[in-house]
Formats: sequence, structure tokens, C-alpha cells
Amino acid sequence: MAKMKPQALLQQSKKKKGPSRISLTTILTCSLIVALFVFFLHTSYRHWSHRSKLQLENGFSGSETEASLMDAKKSDLPGYAVFSTSKGTIVVELYKESAPEVVDEFIDLCQKNRFSGMLFHHVIKHYSIQVGNSQDLGVAEDWILGGKHHSQPDASLKHDAFLVGTPRGKPKNKGFEIFITTAPIPDLSEKLIIFGQVIKGEHVVQEIEEVDTDEHYRPKSTIKINNITLRMKI
Ligand SMILES: *[C@@H]1O[C@H](CO)[C@@H](O)[C@H](O)[C@H]1NC(C)=O
Repeated sequence: MAKMKPQALLQQSKKKKGPSRISLTTILTCSLIVALFVFFLHTSYRHWSHRSKLQLENGFSGSETEASLMDAKKSDLPGYAVFSTSKGTIVVELYKESAPEVVDEFIDLCQKNRFSGMLFHHVIKHYSIQVGNSQDLGVAEDWILGGKHHSQPDASLKHDAFLVGTPRGKPKNKGFEIFITTAPIPDLSEKLIIFGQVIKGEHVVQEIEEVDTDEHYRPKSTIKINNITLRMKI
């Protein structure tokens, strides 16, 4: 009896304490394992997707993770372009959100200094000024031929002018044309992808608009871009 009692007590204590101690330990251990596992998965997934993003550079499938990486990348991009022209400085805010692909291409070309020395080769009063390597009016020709040429800029719609765009459906590697509008144009977004807006130097745009042109809307004097500098902030 005296020998049995401690054993019985031990048995009892095991029965009483055992399960609660085991379950507490189990819960803690399991939680720790799950937490570590989730942390590990998250870290390695981020690492992996970041690496694959860097490797793939241009390829994106639009998955949620890549979309958020694109967002992060977008906010790292410069938001402004400072056009130094022979008539003065024009500051353009870039539409990184609404025209990301065109802004990417534009930024890439700026970084390669492709716009230095480019001519404003067409000026259509109350419509647009155009800079690039093309000798064509392109989109602007449709506006003129379509008889939509404005005789008077509508001052009440001034905020719809000074938009910066490039023609839609442009063949690859065919240069980059920039149109800066000087008046509201109704069917603008059918013709152009608007990728920015002039926020400073509207008067410079207007000065370029006022130059004398020949009958083909080509300026008689040389107006060119000295360079375009990208800025994060203005
Ligand atoms: C851009 O051109 C202007 C005028 O020629 C010049 O003063 C300026 O230093 C140039 N900026 C860059 C970054 O090359």
C-alpha cells in the first residue's frame, strides 16, 4: 500500500497534468512551426518573384504579385520631364499610371538621349506642335483634312490643352513622335496616347505655336529640343 501510493499519485498527476502540459507545448510548437513556415514561404516567394522580375525585365503576365511589383517600380520612375528647347523650358508631368508603357518607352529614350537635337517639325496653330524624327504630319494630317481645325481656341477648355501624346498604333522602331496640344481636341484620345501634361512653360509652347510656318505647317525657323532631363520631383 505504502509502495503503491506514490505510484498511484504519479499516475494521477500524469493523468491530470499530463494532457494539459502536452497540449500547451504542442500548441506552442505548432504555432512556432507554422509561423516559421509562413515566414519562410513569404520570404522565399518575394525573393523568387523579385529575381524573376529582374530576369524577365519586359515580360509580365499581370499576376497580382507582379502587378504590385510593377506599382513599386512605377513609383520609382521619374514623374517629370524637363524639355529644354531653343524657345525655353517646358515641364511635363508624366502619366505613369494611365500610360505606363508609353512612359516607360519615353523614359528609356530620354536616358539614351534620343531627343537631343530633335526638331519641332510641324506646328499647327490652335492645334498642336509636333517633335520627332518623322517628316509626316501623321495624326495631325487627319485633323487638318478632317476639317476639324479650330479657328479659335476655347479658353474655357484650357485645361484640356497642353496635353502630351504620341500616336496610337505606331509601328515598332519607327521613332517616337511627340505632340503637344495647344487647344482642346475632341477626338484626341482616338489618335493619341496621352502620356503627360505640360505643367510649366505653357507660354513656351505658345511661343513655338506662333512661329511662321510654310503651307505644309513646317516652321520656317529651326526650333529644337536641346535635351530632356528626367526628374523625380519638381
Ligand atoms: C540641356 O541643354 C541646355 C541648353 O543647351 C544646357 O544648358 C543644359 O546644360 C543641358 N542639360 C543637360 C543635362 O545636358
